[in-house]
Amino acid sequence: MQTDFLVIGSGIAGLTYALKVAQYLPDKKVTIITKAAADETNTKYAQGGIAVVNDLGNDSFEKHIEDTLISGDGLCNRKIVELVIKEGPERVKEIIEWGARFDKDADGDFKLGMEGGHSEFRILHHKDVTGMEIERALLDTIEKSPNINMIKHCFVVDIITQHHLGYLVTKATTDVNCFGVYVLNAKINRIEKIIAGTTLLATGGNGQVYRTTTNPSIATGDGVAMVYRAKGRIENMEFIQFHPTALYEAGKRGQGFLITEAIRGDGGILRNIHGEAFMERYDVRKDLAPRDIVARAIDNEMKISGTEHVYLDCRHLNIEKFKEHFPNIYEKCLSVGIDVEKNMIPVAPAAHYSCGGIKTNEWGRTSILNLYACGECASTGLHGANRLASNSLLEALVFAHRCYVASVAPFDNDDAGLQHPDGLLFGFKSNDINTPPPGNMNGVSAIPDWNAEGTSEPKEMILITQSLKELQQVMSDYVGIVRNNVRLQRALKRLDILFEETEDLYQTTTVSPQLLELRNMITVGYLIIKAASFRKESRGLHFNTDYPYKLSLIENIVL
Ligand code: FAD
Ligand code: SIN
Repeated sequence: MQTDFLVIGSGIAGLTYALKVAQYLPDKKVTIITKAAADETNTKYAQGGIAVVNDLGNDSFEKHIEDTLISGDGLCNRKIVELVIKEGPERVKEIIEWGARFDKDADGDFKLGMEGGHSEFRILHHKDVTGMEIERALLDTIEKSPNINMIKHCFVVDIITQHHLGYLVTKATTDVNCFGVYVLNAKINRIEKIIAGTTLLATGGNGQVYRTTTNPSIATGDGVAMVYRAKGRIENMEFIQFHPTALYEAGKRGQGFLITEAIRGDGGILRNIHGEAFMERYDVRKDLAPRDIVARAIDNEMKISGTEHVYLDCRHLNIEKFKEHFPNIYEKCLSVGIDVEKNMIPVAPAAHYSCGGIKTNEWGRTSILNLYACGECASTGLHGANRLASNSLLEALVFAHRCYVASVAPFDNDDAGLQHPDGLLFGFKSNDINTPPPGNMNGVSAIPDWNAEGTSEPKEMILITQSLKELQQVMSDYVGIVRNNVRLQRALKRLDILFEETEDLYQTTTVSPQLLELRNMITVGYLIIKAASFRKESRGLHFNTDYPYKLSLIENIVL
């Protein structure tokens, strides 16, 4: 199969990019591939909303920029922070035009939410199911786009580069070129190749690497692992954000239910097992301190009391308002026997968001030619050492747009600058980003088919399941909220064994999505441990008790 634009991932990042390219170039073919159902994405589960400066009230770009920089603890790229926050309102307006609805008050003004680390109410939301609403609106618009083809339940295995044409590709190769991907068609259980002029990775996060996470099962870091194998650059993987408040359900593994931070924005209070409101002992911003601080405080309270959770107390809140803003959470709590009006909600931190990922420039270009990345799989420089709440959906929108601008630029014959219905885009000219010719297809006919020779059906799938459990256990026990050198070394040793066993399976058995995900998650785990070991300080989400201070030399760790 050949396509002009190949998009991997059907969350907010992939869908937004696909729509923009398809609308601007109606004669070109845009193909979206997703390994699950179209809407099974991290995006669908987003609750709190999108942080964006409105023209209402006291807010300003400067305040949002400042909040983002403070949360990022010295590691944000200021230029990227400024452009995301300033371009954000335009991008949000576009998804509203595509049909996304955000809550309004009786006067027709947006209701704005508050979350940790924000100095103003600025979060647009659709009750407590913002992501589901955005995903719905984008998928509805995609349905009506004749030049977009969505392929579901197909698993992208690897990026095709000149390595597959027999050339030596190393980390030092400066012109690694992406020609498309190998993809496992699960229906016929065969790996096929898709050749593309331009490829976008929008593969989302990696929360499944940990035992408990707010992420659904698709979040296995596939894009990051693929780029690493293809010798592309990966950045800041040590900064894994643990959300302070996932619903605690005894013995539960895998995806946990999120209790949005917006509840603390509306006055919810964290209490330890003895009922004490403890956050004032940790930070003057109390329950609305940035996430790294709140998650570490909870972790500490749990360690002191020897319990597996603390509580979120909402009993003093107006229940009618609570039900109106958080109907999904209210119902979920009731379904597990918690009436939020009378009972406190047991909560514990869970792996939530990957601040690092595939290193990109300000136009979403990766270190591999013809390969773009945006959304959670990318490391753009916005989040630094700790993402500010609700900045992720915003980043995905802004960078999907920037990837679109950069990747359609070679098709723009008008040298006066890229034209768009809105006019000239940021005075941007196609030459400005030195874009290579679209899809240098020289030699693609020589790309070999996938070689499955010498492999046989796996005898026991349980081996994969057990290895996955081991990986999640190791990552949670040794590479969690609080780390130290001995733990990191232990984790690396355990992962070495898992890596060897899994590579052996990969070489000798026919591949399945489960095996491919395990292989990718081991790679991602390895990258997190390596980056964490290289960072000899504590900053943002990375806390190492052997180096409980910040270094004055501030660096990104690129692998
Ligand atoms: P996703 O939406 O995760 O989409 C990834 C896509 O890639 C999926 O379609 C998947 O199937 C596909 N894919 C992955 N690997 C492969 C492969 N190998 N082959 C084929 N397809 C593949 N952020 C905010 O800003 N505000 C919030 O309120 C908020 N709340 C959140 C609540 C929860 C519970 C969670 C989990 C996250 C929340 N976030 C929030 C974070 C935010 O939702 C995500 O960062 C964002 O939605 C990621 O979008 P994405 O398009 O990059 O990836
Ligand atoms: C939440 O609603 O608490 C999650 C927001 C986010 O992750 O940005």
